[in-house]
Amino acid sequence: MSVIHLRRDGVSLMLNVGEIARVEHWGADLGPTLPELSLMHDAVPHSALDVPVALGLLPQASDGWRGRPGLRGYRKDLHGGVSGFSPRLRVEASSHTEFSASITQIDADLELRLQTTFVIHSGGLLEIAHTLENTGAGTFALDELAITLPVPSEAAEVMDLTGRWCRERHPQRHSIQQGTWVRSGRHGRTGHDSSLLLAAGTPAFANRRGRIWAGHFAWSGNHEQFVDNVADGRTVIGAAELFAPGEVNLEPGGSYTTPSYFAAYSETGFDGVTKAFYDWFRARAQHPKSARPVVLNVWEAVYFNHDLAVLKELAESAAELGVERFVLDDGWFRHRRNDHAGLGDWFVDEQLWPDGLTPLIDAVVSHGMQFGLWVEPEMINLDSDVARAHPDWISGPVRRQTADDRLPLEWRFQHVIDLVNQDAWQYVYNRIHAILSENNISYLKWDQNRDLLEMGHNSAPSTHQQTLAAYKLFDALKAAHPEVEIESCSSGGARVDLGILQRTDRVWASDCNDALERVTIQRWTQAVVPPELVGSHIGPRTSHTTGRTHDLSFRAITALFGHFGMEQDVRKIQGQEREELRHVIELYKQFRELIHTGTRINADLSDPSLELHGVVAGDGTKALFALSAQTTSYAEQPGRIRFPGLHAGAQYSIELLYPASTMPRPGVQGDVAIQRETPPWIESGATVSGRVLAEMGLPMPVLNPEHALLFGATLIE
Ligand code: DGJ
Repeated sequence: MSVIHLRRDGVSLMLNVGEIARVEHWGADLGPTLPELSLMHDAVPHSALDVPVALGLLPQASDGWRGRPGLRGYRKDLHGGVSGFSPRLRVEASSHTEFSASITQIDADLELRLQTTFVIHSGGLLEIAHTLENTGAGTFALDELAITLPVPSEAAEVMDLTGRWCRERHPQRHSIQQGTWVRSGRHGRTGHDSSLLLAAGTPAFANRRGRIWAGHFAWSGNHEQFVDNVADGRTVIGAAELFAPGEVNLEPGGSYTTPSYFAAYSETGFDGVTKAFYDWFRARAQHPKSARPVVLNVWEAVYFNHDLAVLKELAESAAELGVERFVLDDGWFRHRRNDHAGLGDWFVDEQLWPDGLTPLIDAVVSHGMQFGLWVEPEMINLDSDVARAHPDWISGPVRRQTADDRLPLEWRFQHVIDLVNQDAWQYVYNRIHAILSENNISYLKWDQNRDLLEMGHNSAPSTHQQTLAAYKLFDALKAAHPEVEIESCSSGGARVDLGILQRTDRVWASDCNDALERVTIQRWTQAVVPPELVGSHIGPRTSHTTGRTHDLSFRAITALFGHFGMEQDVRKIQGQEREELRHVIELYKQFRELIHTGTRINADLSDPSLELHGVVAGDGTKALFALSAQTTSYAEQPGRIRFPGLHAGAQYSIELLYPASTMPRPGVQGDVAIQRETPPWIESGATVSGRVLAEMGLPMPVLNPEHALLFGATLIE
């Protein structure tokens, strides 16, 4: 029996590697001296198994586990007989370094080998994956291989995220009671409702309070995340890929590797979880290093009405404002005059663009901007040349030979191209590769606009293979065009996960540009994904997806805390509002380095109508905070608001940066952020210590609902 102890940045993972391998502890740093393992033996109750139940790395009935099993599968013999349904894994070997471990277990009777790897990354984020290998002669049908981690009984509440189109990643929570809480994703893609994070924590854990054990499953296909509280009182959190019946069969020598499960432990509420994820993201070799350019995406400006003269005007207007990347959205390829046709025909439309995209790209580049292009490579319209030529390239539950054969239901008039079919995959690769090779393109907005239901290749379920084939497409195009950045968009934010983010450079968090919705969408997207990877645009004054109207300051302050841009007809923004927009773009350029490298702060405010978030530089020298009011305030006036996260002993100068309280407001009368008189310090700024800001706070003006204020703090001594 041996112990492996991985410790890093406040987190301990203690592995007990005896005959059975188990996680003895995952959570707070235990220090260098560990207890005798024999001290940890559990009691044996009446009417129970005669030995303590072992919660192994792969919980299983053969060890007495009666919760969700870690491995489900069976052997099929040639006559249809079934055996080998209950694995009994025993440790064969283990190894470790300071921050990583590998444990191999085998079931000699079932002829299975399982290798589990653990890595604690800098910042304390734990990464786990299993590989299951069939070492026997026959087929092993794999139904599920789950990654689980034990959490202590003080983790009495669970919080996860849910949502829908235009309302992604909203939190929901409840107490953990006996039973299993499962979040299933059967969308074939990550899903608008997918939980980016499933967190168990001490009661009432909050932004900066409480202990939290949180997991994320890095996969863009079907999946389940769960909390399992079993009758013996133990609780595990975990995740698994969700397979269709018969989807994964391990032939002799074949293996299956799970997506990685990332797990963060925090003693400082969600902000500690977020810090662990940000540290991991930012340490990656491929993490974007250059300043994130100001974007203009033309979708809500022109939709499918692509007109070279208009687009050139938009480019000129954008450049004049300070935009650095111009993105041409859906509608540029053959037959794509609306969303009924053209997907799959990845050729520049000759009628609309007789001279190709070059005239527009040249205009964009001559203004000093990068050019970006929208694509949706995984999809196909029936009304397309490619679908007419290759009806068998459409994924579905039956082997399709003619246009009359059964298909899944249409969604936005489109289907999924069967990327498991090598010819279809190669065609899509060749076309996107050609478009990138023939044009000066710096950026792809890679969309995916439907759930992938009833995915099948040659009549067999194929969501797993389709997801891997899509990953391979991203990887191959990235390898061929390493300078091209890729955004993961999926009807807005339906493909936001660490699987896709290993091969892309940002995500589109939502099709909703309404700042009020965005405050929550971005807060929870950025609980895991750092702001430099989260696209956030200033939409039109009246939101196209909700019909709400917001002044520029609320839209701008909300968009600033991300990879900032605009999505509207910027030609129409004139006069004072244009000057204000220019000012906002300058603010973004001034603060983007801070926003994209600093520590995310989310305050715990008692007034539910208010939200305060910010970013503090790693060395504590500066910070930026946004205070927004979502509804009319709870109290008559907000009183003092505390700004956490600064160096307690340092003095800071804090000021209102935007909107200046004296700034004349464009638009309708009464469209102002602040009601009546402001506290006097707002006019001139204040000098206070980080401790005073965190513990006492400063009095705030009365904010009108759906408005925000931007504050800057600078360390002065
Ligand atoms: C859905 C995306 O989320 C939008 O931003 C836009 O690109 C449309 N698709 C285009 O069809």
